[in-house]
Amino acid sequence: MEERTFVYLKPNTIQRQLVGEVIRRFERRGLKIVALKMLWLNQEQAEALYAEHKGKNFYEPLIKFVTSGPIVAMILEGPHAVRLVRHTIGSTDPLEASGGTIRGDFAVSVRKNIVHASDSPESARREISLFFDEKEIFDYPLLLEEHF
Ligand code: RTP
Ligand code: MG
Repeated sequence: MEERTFVYLKPNTIQRQLVGEVIRRFERRGLKIVALKMLWLNQEQAEALYAEHKGKNFYEPLIKFVTSGPIVAMILEGPHAVRLVRHTIGSTDPLEASGGTIRGDFAVSVRKNIVHASDSPESARREISLFFDEKEIFDYPLLLEEHF
């Protein structure tokens, strides 16, 4: 079942120069990048993305953090992409994320947990539409043999 999910690398991942490392793990997993860009979230975009958390105690610091610097946003495609990516990034709290997951290997705090990924196909559709136009999303096959 081909599926798309929205992922973005949080500002600390760009600061720590882990962009390539994190994207490499998604590629190695077999996920296909169908859209990719750097952007700097404004207040409105961050609030739209995290609307479900408004009012929670971590909401304000979270919004401040994710608008503190540029991020790298992407759409990944593959079979069961939403669940596959969630497994690849690991639990929200790095203390619970297994070694070998992105958060388990690179994160120490819940807020600065390296990466965001959609938690359901419905969230993925909503989040993709917040950040990408149709013309920024590329539909193409991965044709390994002809590139060697
Ligand atoms: P994300 O949305 O970023 O992929 O992470 P998630 O689904 O694993 O976590 P979620 O519950 O949606 O929370 C969104 C982000 O808020 C920050 N957070 N801080 N107790 C806390 O301080 C707390 N809980 C959540 C994290 O940065 C989390 O990724
Ligand atoms: Mg979430």
